[in-house]
Amino acid sequence: MGVSTSKPHPIATKWFPEFEQNLPTLDGKTVCVTGCTTGTGFIVARTAVRKNASNVVLLNRSSDRATKAEELLHDEIKSSSSSSKVETISCDLQDFESVKEAAKTIQSKYDAIDVLCNNAGMLIQYVYYERFLPFLLN
Ligand SMILES: NC(=O)c1ccc[n+]([C@@H]2O[C@H](COP(=O)([O-])OP(=O)(O)OC[C@H]3O[C@@H](n4cnc5c(N)ncnc54)[C@H](OP(=O)(O)O)[C@@H]3O)[C@@H](O)[C@H]2O)c1
Repeated sequence: MGVSTSKPHPIATKWFPEFEQNLPTLDGKTVCVTGCTTGTGFIVARTAVRKNASNVVLLNRSSDRATKAEELLHDEIKSSSSSSKVETISCDLQDFESVKEAAKTIQSKYDAIDVLCNNAGMLIQYVYYERFLPFLLN
């Protein structure tokens, strides 16, 4: 089996820009997103910034990627008319104590969460895993 050294072919975003543009404003809302250093979670957080959410809370485990994601969103704010406030609250979804600590921090800083995007993380016990695996695969 050979190893491919070619770069992935870039795929232009076709539908998302119009979809994002047509979303209503998030002005006045507090949006929390788990696992948004990259991928879908990052796009959700970036969309919240673009839709001018008052607060965008990045629930990430600490890493260079988490720092970079927050920086990119601050750049997004600087280069746009968004007045969102972005902050990272450390949250490792594999560590329940970390999740409880993050919840406490959110409670102490914000009146309410308007949008909670549970993008990353799935705490599932083995017994449930066995029972739900057929559904997860379908
Ligand atoms: N992409 C798809 O086609 C697809 C399809 C079906 C379902 N999904 C689900 O959609 C979600 C996002 O998918 P994606 O493709 O955007 O994933 P991704 O690009 O791999 O991003 C995963 C995110 O989750 C974070 N994460 C992983 N473990 C974590 C933990 N213990 N605590 C906190 N954050 C953690 C990662 O942060 P770090 O940088 O810290 O690793 C990263 O920000 C996932 O739950 C995935 O299972 C995706």
